[in-house]
Amino acid sequence: MASNSIGQVFRVTTFGESHGPVIGAVVDGCPAGLPLSVEAIQQDLNRRRPGQSALTSPRNEADRVQIVSGIFEGRTTGAPIALLLANEDIRSADYNHLQNTYRPSHADYTYETKYGLRDHRGGGRSSARATAALVAAGGVAKQLLATADIRIAAFVTQVGSESVSLPLATDPPQLDAWLAVSEANAIRCPDAEAADRMIALVEEARSAGDTLGGIITAVIDPCPPALGEPLFGKLQADLAHAMLCINAVHGFDYGSGFAGASRYGSEHNDVFFNDQGTIRTRTNYSGGIQGGITNGMPVYFRVAFKPVATLMQVQTSVDREGEPVTLEGRGRHDPCVLPRAVPIVEAAAAIVLADHLLRSRMARI
Ligand SMILES: Cc1cc2nc3c(=O)[nH]c(=O)nc-3n(C[C@H](O)[C@H](O)[C@H](O)COP(=O)(O)O)c2cc1C
Repeated sequence: MASNSIGQVFRVTTFGESHGPVIGAVVDGCPAGLPLSVEAIQQDLNRRRPGQSALTSPRNEADRVQIVSGIFEGRTTGAPIALLLANEDIRSADYNHLQNTYRPSHADYTYETKYGLRDHRGGGRSSARATAALVAAGGVAKQLLATADIRIAAFVTQVGSESVSLPLATDPPQLDAWLAVSEANAIRCPDAEAADRMIALVEEARSAGDTLGGIITAVIDPCPPALGEPLFGKLQADLAHAMLCINAVHGFDYGSGFAGASRYGSEHNDVFFNDQGTIRTRTNYSGGIQGGITNGMPVYFRVAFKPVATLMQVQTSVDREGEPVTLEGRGRHDPCVLPRAVPIVEAAAAIVLADHLLRSRMARI
């Protein structure tokens, strides 16, 4: 099974399955001398872990990160940084009924067709458990980015039919104010009233044995100019790649995105001006990226998540022999992945940005 790594210079490889003994990540290419706070990595893992609120899967994983390589006296040595997380709350018997059956809209059928076998326990490698390793590696990336004054934050801006819009094309982002609200509610929405409506929707769906999807909006601010490479390493292309590699992601757009397609150029162009010696744009429909390279304005993008595939309802499917079967969700599942996916989106973005930050230092003498 290839394709377990992302990044060219700052390169992350993840390993492990949902019900194996451990999962983890190896970060290769992180420069030596970076003071690394394990506690900061742990805080992001705590934001992703299951069981953190009534809206998430009750699987009880402490997700205490252990760094077993690449750190000496609290600083990176330049060697690979290996981060380990134990799988502690495993109940494989909950998945026995899936050994010969394919869950609708999950990865069972495709994995088995491709590899000829499948670890059905918790979904094996296809489980979102693997995203804990991504968040751990993203914690290293975030700390590298902080040395260049780059900050990333993500927010839930849609759950099912409830949405809020952040005026990112026209106004400066208010990361601190938005985070103060979003990190204080269980759905991680920057608007407290919309959060209540979203939470009520998820609770309603969960009571009906159903699930909901939604949208996360991520913002990188401040973001320096000159990150991203023409042509096939455009920053938005690498961000899209990283986001679409996250479990259950079905869509990505940045800046004005799909909505920009219906506007006139005269409304959409971001006009430059000299802001006391710094060249900036009056609007930011470009999402801070032009020609694949950051222009110094905030970068922002949206990531759409589908509703979780596992329902606590009876569904029809087929077994290995193609015979019709019915199945009902068992085990511990998320009715809506959005609140837990916020730190995952931030981590994936941080890994892409860290890679481009290091690559940008090779662009010219
Ligand atoms: C944080 C997070 C938690 C998830 N939890 C579940 C879950 O409890 N049950 C489930 O069926 N899928 C869950 N998923 C989605 C599956 O991992 C995903 O749908 C599956 O691997 C198939 O991949 P695809 O949806 O990308 O095609 C979760 C995804 C994320 C990001």
